[in-house]
Amino acid sequence: MWDTIDNVTKELKGFHPGTQVEVEEFRVRMLGRKGVLTRLFDEFRNVDPAGKKELGKKLNLLKNQIQETLNEHKERLSRTETGKSRTEDMTKPADLLNAGSRHPIAIVQREILDIFRKMGFSVEEGPEIEDDWHVFSALNFAPDHPARDMQDTFFINNDSDNPVLLRTHTSSVQVRTMEKQKPPIRVVCPGRVFRNEAISARAHCIFHQVEGLYIDENVSFADLKQSILIFVREMFGSSARIRLRPSYFPFTEPSAEVDMNCNICGGAGCNICKNTGWLEIMGAGMVDPNVLKASGIDPEKHTGFAFGMGVERIAMLKWQVRDLRHYFENDVRFLEQFQSGLL
Ligand code: PHE
Repeated sequence: MWDTIDNVTKELKGFHPGTQVEVEEFRVRMLGRKGVLTRLFDEFRNVDPAGKKELGKKLNLLKNQIQETLNEHKERLSRTETGKSRTEDMTKPADLLNAGSRHPIAIVQREILDIFRKMGFSVEEGPEIEDDWHVFSALNFAPDHPARDMQDTFFINNDSDNPVLLRTHTSSVQVRTMEKQKPPIRVVCPGRVFRNEAISARAHCIFHQVEGLYIDENVSFADLKQSILIFVREMFGSSARIRLRPSYFPFTEPSAEVDMNCNICGGAGCNICKNTGWLEIMGAGMVDPNVLKASGIDPEKHTGFAFGMGVERIAMLKWQVRDLRHYFENDVRFLEQFQSGLL
């Protein structure tokens, strides 16, 4: 028996398998049901009591050594096997880096601007920190208009006659454009706006707008309606329809709220359109003569239309996202669903 033990010990030292199959074969040959060790343990039962203790120790030790050696080789081989497939073909192109994706709001904003660019509008931007004049006064807001309330607007400095505040709409950029350009004016003004509102699935205190302004001689309400219809059909497909409801804004007269037929239920009525078949998508109207005057444009000579929409709202309708907060949480699992081809 001692000879066999010596042989196994030697074999174990020289054992250097190249594959998992060899490891398994060795295990079966040593520890399997008919394995060398199993046989040794069988023989051990009949051994003379005198040498039994020492032999027993030796056998147990050997069994443990075999088991450890098998485990080590198993692990080593599994490590090199994965390593192997990585280093094998050095000419393989590298794994692509995850380059990320454009934010869904940026994708939709671009689409909106592209549609209006095709209609001859150019893009104007302006400051997010504004003054009362450009956000309210020049736009014909009465001195006691509720939008000027702290409940609706974030003020930075409310001490002077012309308070500093975060713009509540990008109509301020339209005022700045009218102040520096002579008609014809055709601009779209994208940007972030701020309102003191509780955050919910349908509202946020920060969101994005695209507002538009067209001023020239003889600009009519029909021009406004047709421009919006073209926009909606480009954005949502040629079967989209619009309807205009009378509304009120201090800076337009007449004013309208624009609805689009619900693209979720197709007009049959659902919880998104509150069973009306219509969804509100923007405000619009003919620029009030007071607004033109305040920016140095002669309302006897020029007329214009203006409109303004929330980008988050358009994006929600386009992708049927039901909770606006997803757009602000920046969870990559949400964001990476909106791939727009090349970044
Ligand atoms: N400025 C308005 C708003 O923020 C939208 C609007 C723009 C309405 C132009 C009419 C004309 O809600």
